[in-house]
This record gives sequence, structure tokens and C-alpha cells, in this order.
Amino acid sequence: EISLKEQLYEILALTCSFYEHALRQPTGQAALEYAVHKRGLDQATIQQFQIGYAPAGWQVLYRYLVEQKGYPASLVEQAGLIVPRNQGDGYYDRFRDRLVIPIHDPQGRVVGFGSRTLTNEEPKYLNSPETPLFSKGKLLFGLDKARHSIAKQDQAIVVEGYFDVIALHRAGITQAVATLGTALSKEQVRQLLRYLDSKQVILNFDADKAGEKAAQRAIGEVADLAYSGDVQLRILTIPQGKDPDEFLQQHSAQDYLNLVTAAPLWLDWQIQGLLDTHDLSQADQFQDVTHKITALLGKLPSATLRSHYIHRCAELLGQGDTRLTLRLEESL
Ligand code: GTP
Ligand code: MN
Ligand code: MN
Ligand code: MN
Ligand code: MN
Repeated sequence: EISLKEQLYEILALTCSFYEHALRQPTGQAALEYAVHKRGLDQATIQQFQIGYAPAGWQVLYRYLVEQKGYPASLVEQAGLIVPRNQGDGYYDRFRDRLVIPIHDPQGRVVGFGSRTLTNEEPKYLNSPETPLFSKGKLLFGLDKARHSIAKQDQAIVVEGYFDVIALHRAGITQAVATLGTALSKEQVRQLLRYLDSKQVILNFDADKAGEKAAQRAIGEVADLAYSGDVQLRILTIPQGKDPDEFLQQHSAQDYLNLVTAAPLWLDWQIQGLLDTHDLSQADQFQDVTHKITALLGKLPSATLRSHYIHRCAELLGQGDTRLTLRLEESL
């Protein structure tokens, strides 16, 4: 008797090969051109990441898995690959006319897919739904390929997108993984910590509004681990509003690694952000910043650290303005 999960693994592995094969067919030519010319992927990378093509048409995968291979439609549905029609009987393929990127568990088994439109269709990315094997708040894209490197480098880099991971790995920065369109969760950080001695996690979300919001949300999620020092979380922001994929098209791996080295600790990043966005010569903004920094530093577990950060604020403000540090010293 084969368990449900084992049957799902089998269906997903077969589907992954099916999509890879479809990329090499005449109907996959536009997708292959997109991968090679628009995204700059070479054949070795396409093979390493098992990138494929989900054919256009409503039942291409359905016919292959259900009619040709004889898998029960209900199982294929539980694998997240086909969707029951709203009206009437039958199913249609979830992924159609998209470049597909398999998502693996840390052991390297395919558990789901991400997919990107080739034609600016909405949504840009469509992922597998939650299934018995696929849970997007728990998985990290690329961890199967990154985990040895994470352990060896004693550092993990977390980015937003599939193509960011792929570009970093191509550049030899193989300690990179991505969240699947969510903020970084505590569960995901705990997974990374299993491979890390010095607990260095670098968060490099896009240098845009959405990326900054996701970084703030991630910090909130893992705040207790960060305050207790159970994770050394650093925030890397690429200049000029780019993501790692775009950055590496114009810069070297060493340029990127220099940004990693310079990335501030999460708390420094937050304080800097508050100071950058407030005008301390305005009474209301001065009060606002004072409250927010007091709240941030108040959760630090030691007086030494609190005092360090009060001095840090003084440094960031320059010698001219001592009001904030005096106020912090009073409140903390
Ligand atoms: P490219 O345009 O292919 O370079 O995409 P990107 O990865 O740079 O995308 P973007 O910065 O817009 O979004 C970052 C990540 O958020 C993506 O990699 C996806 O994981 C996720 N994401 C973006 N758009 C969508 C969407 O429409 N639906 C879902 N589910 N996730 C999305
Ligand atoms: Mn973005
Ligand atoms: Mn991006
Ligand atoms: Mn991008
Ligand atoms: Mn450069």
C-alpha cells in the first residue's frame, strides 16, 4: 500500500519531467526563448533548476496524467496540478502557457511549482496551491541546492524571487534561497538555522516599496529570535531599486558580496530608516521617532546593548543634536 504522499511525489516528479520535455518541443519554443534571451539562462542552468514549460491548452497535462498514465483525477487535483471546473464535470490544467519552475523540499523532491507568464498576463506568477506536500509559508525555494553551501559559508541569503535565486547561484553565490511570495516566516528561519553556526541570515528583498514592506513584516515575524540573538539578521538593500537578478546583470558577484558584507544588522537598519524619514526639527516628528526608537530598544535583553544603540543614534545624528539620545537615556 503506497501512502498518499508517496503517490503525490510520484505524480509531481513525472509532471516535472513532462514540463521539461515540453520546453524542448516546437510548442515550447517561445518559452525557451524567453528563458534564454529575456532571462539570460544558459542550458546548464535550465537543466540544473529543471525549468520547464506548461503547454497552452486546457487539458494537456490532464490527458497525459489521467488518460495516458491512469492516475485518478482526484489525486492529480490533490497534487495541485488540475482544478475542477466551476460548472459541469471535469478538470482543467492549473498551469497553462507558462514557464514553470519546480519547487523542491530540502531533500530534493518536487513538491510544487512556480510559474511565470510569458505574455504579461495577470497574475505574473502563479504557484501551486496548498497541498499535503506544499506549504508556502514553510518552504524555501532553492534550499535543496543551497543547504550544503549555507552550512559551508555559515550564511544564508534570502531573496524574493525564483530568478533572484537562479541568478545568484549562477554567479556562484549558492547560499541563496527565496520565500515564495510571502514575508520570511519564523518557521523558515528555523529551517535555515539548522545549517548555521553563527546564525547569519541576510535578507535581500527588492529595493522597492513592496520589498521594504516585506522586510518589515519579516522582522516582525522573527523579532523574538532576533532580539534574543538566536538569529543574526542583516538587511541588504540593493541601490537603485533593483532586485538581485537585475543587479547581477550589470555587476559582478564580488560587487554583490561587497553589499552583503556592508549589510546592516536589522536594528541598525530600522533605526536608520526612522532617522531618514523623519525631520527631527519638527516637534511632532521628534516625538514620534523618540517613541518608536524607545519601543525598539526597550526590547533589547541587555543594558549593554541598549547603551550601544543609544550611542549609535548619537553617531547617526552627528554631534549637533543630542536631544534624542538624552531622551532615550532617560526612558531606557
Ligand atoms: P520578474 O519580473 O520575473 O523578475 O519577477 P520578480 O521575481 O522580480 O517579481 P517581483 O519583484 O514583482 O515579485 C517578487 C516575488 O513575489 C516573485 O518572485 C513571486 O514569488 C512573487 N510574486 C510576484 N508577483 C506575483 C503574483 O502575481 N502572484 C503571486 N502569487 N506571487 C507573485
Ligand atoms: Mn519587486
Ligand atoms: Mn523582483
Ligand atoms: Mn526580477
Ligand atoms: Mn560594478
